[in-house]
Amino acid sequence: MTVGLTTKMLPAGPTTAAEAARCLLNGGLVAFPTETVYGLGADATQPEAIARLYQAKGRPSFNPLIAHVADLAAAERIARFNATARKLAEAFWPGPLTLVLPKTANCVVADLATAGLDTVAVRIPAHAVARDILRELGRPIVAPSANRSGHVSPTAAEHVASDLTGRIDLIVDGGPVPVGVESTIIGCFDTPLLLRPGGVPRDAIERVLGHAVGRPPEEPDAHSSQPLAPGMLASHYAPRTKVRLNAQRLADGEALLAFGPDPISGSDAAAASLNLSARGDLTEAAANLFSHLRALDAAHATAIAVMSIPHDGLGEAINDRLRRAAVPQD
Ligand code: TXA
Ligand code: MG
Repeated sequence: MTVGLTTKMLPAGPTTAAEAARCLLNGGLVAFPTETVYGLGADATQPEAIARLYQAKGRPSFNPLIAHVADLAAAERIARFNATARKLAEAFWPGPLTLVLPKTANCVVADLATAGLDTVAVRIPAHAVARDILRELGRPIVAPSANRSGHVSPTAAEHVASDLTGRIDLIVDGGPVPVGVESTIIGCFDTPLLLRPGGVPRDAIERVLGHAVGRPPEEPDAHSSQPLAPGMLASHYAPRTKVRLNAQRLADGEALLAFGPDPISGSDAAAASLNLSARGDLTEAAANLFSHLRALDAAHATAIAVMSIPHDGLGEAINDRLRRAAVPQD
């Protein structure tokens, strides 16, 4: 059992990076900041460590993990790049983009981490703390977001602590993260697919590729054992409080998640109220999304009413996360 571990929290820095790498090498679980959200890392080559990671998160084992690597050479040791992948890697790495690619024959990432698929999801994070740990370890690190499965993703070390204390070994505190939504995931198949909208907006990707990128055919249901884009479970990123989207006015007892300079009517009486971006900036909204959801969840309102968010740029990723947060939890 991972429950009952002593979880250390250390400020980021050179000695912490060395300690984190040692801990990972010994099969430990280390949460650390990336530019998107905090990740919960395990040495990608150690099946036992990965099994403990799934257990600590309470994650369904069919949901595969992203392998984080330090540089392109390391990425090419585990994944086979085609022309699409090369273009995207060149344009957006290091950064909030994940590529799903065929595994190489000698890919060191454990099968447990890829859930038995013959593809692997790879990314080079841009955050200095993540990069220091990757360099120290010299191996890929698999890292899902450092929250209990189905909870809101963590954008600060305290969020990780509140979900995972007693279940993991170390939390590296590098302060709040800059992007705030997870990486964009592109399946680099013969026809590339946007598997998850995220920190790199769709239009930036389409500009680099010179053509539009489609979404996978249908949302697989939560009980399908082998979804096409696993992890695209309907209910995800969920606060415990009910979430109501595209609110036009606030009902009694509701908390408000606002966007832009003009709060909807009824908002004076909100149980709690936070604005993703009072100036209507989608980048600022993405950075605030998960911490605001957490804070409003703690207000024990009857529901969290969310104002509508434009769908352009990072709005696609924000709306994707909000839609998942709004799916009823049984
Ligand atoms: O920004 C991020 O991507 C963060 C930070 C920590 O890097 N990580 C993250 O990981 O969001 P996670 O585990 O919460 O989401 C990974 C997603 C899941 O939806 C998973 O199903 C998908 O990546 N995925 C992983 N491997 C895949 C594969 N081989 N084929 C298709 N989807 C894959
Ligand atoms: Mg996640």
